[in-house]
Amino acid sequence: MSKPVVAIIGGTGLDSIEELVIKHNHLVQTPFGAPSDMIQEGTLFDEAILFLPRHGRAHNIPPHKINYRANIAALKQFGVDKILAITAVGGIAPNCPPRALVIPEQIIDYTYGREHTFFDGVDSRVEHIDFTAPFCDTIRNELVGAAQSAGIEIVSGGVYGVTQGPRLETAAEIKRMARDGCSVVGMTVMPEAALARELDMRYANCSIVVNWGAGLEDGEITMDEIRDHLQHASLEVKKLLNHWLANSL
Ligand code: HPA
Repeated sequence: MSKPVVAIIGGTGLDSIEELVIKHNHLVQTPFGAPSDMIQEGTLFDEAILFLPRHGRAHNIPPHKINYRANIAALKQFGVDKILAITAVGGIAPNCPPRALVIPEQIIDYTYGREHTFFDGVDSRVEHIDFTAPFCDTIRNELVGAAQSAGIEIVSGGVYGVTQGPRLETAAEIKRMARDGCSVVGMTVMPEAALARELDMRYANCSIVVNWGAGLEDGEITMDEIRDHLQHASLEVKKLLNHWLANSL
C-alpha cells in the first residue's frame, strides 16, 4: 500500500521550515478562492510532504481572515489525507506551561463569523458530519509514539479552546475558558479541523504553548516572551516531526 499524502500546516513561528527541501511551489486556486500561500511540495527529513503556511509566508494573514476553506480544499486537490496542524497557543491548564507541546484531544469553538463549512446549502447539499472526536486518534497516537522515541516531553490530551482574535483574551475570558475545561487557547484550529473532517481528511494538532493565558501570571503578555518560547519550542517540534514522518503510516 502506498503511503498517505501528508500535509503540514504551519502556524505562527513555523511559517517556513528551513529543513524543508522544496521541489515545487504550487500556485493553486479553489472554488473558494486562493489558499494562504503557494503549496510547497518537497521532502522534510527525507519524507515527502506538502507544506502550507497558514498565515502566509510573510505572516500577514490574521486568524479571522484566513481562507480556511481554500486552504483545506487546496490540500484535498493534492490528494492529501493526513494533516498535521501546528499552532502557537496560550496555556490555561497547569500542565500546559510555556514551551509545552500539547497534542489536544478536544475542541471548544468560540469563534464567530468565519466561513466554516463546505456544506452551506449550495447544490442543495446539507450534511452534518460527526465531530464527537475532532482530532484523528491514529495521528495523535503516532505523535505520542514519536515523542517517546525522540525523548521529547509532550502533553497528550486536553481541550483546545478557539477564540476569534486577533486580540488576546481578557483575564475573565480565560477564567471562563478554564471553567469550561479548556487546557490551551489559540485562534486557528477552527474551522480548520471541521473542514478537514467534512472532506474526509485525517487531521490532528500539535500546539506549542508560548505564553500563559491572560491573567494567569502578573503583567501583560509580551511579543518578546512569545518569540522566545516559540524559538525554543520549535526546535523540539522539528525533532518530533522528524520521528513522526519516519514512522507515520
Ligand atoms: N490566546 C490566543 N491565542 C494565542 C495565545 C493566547 O494567549 N497565545 C498564542 N496564541
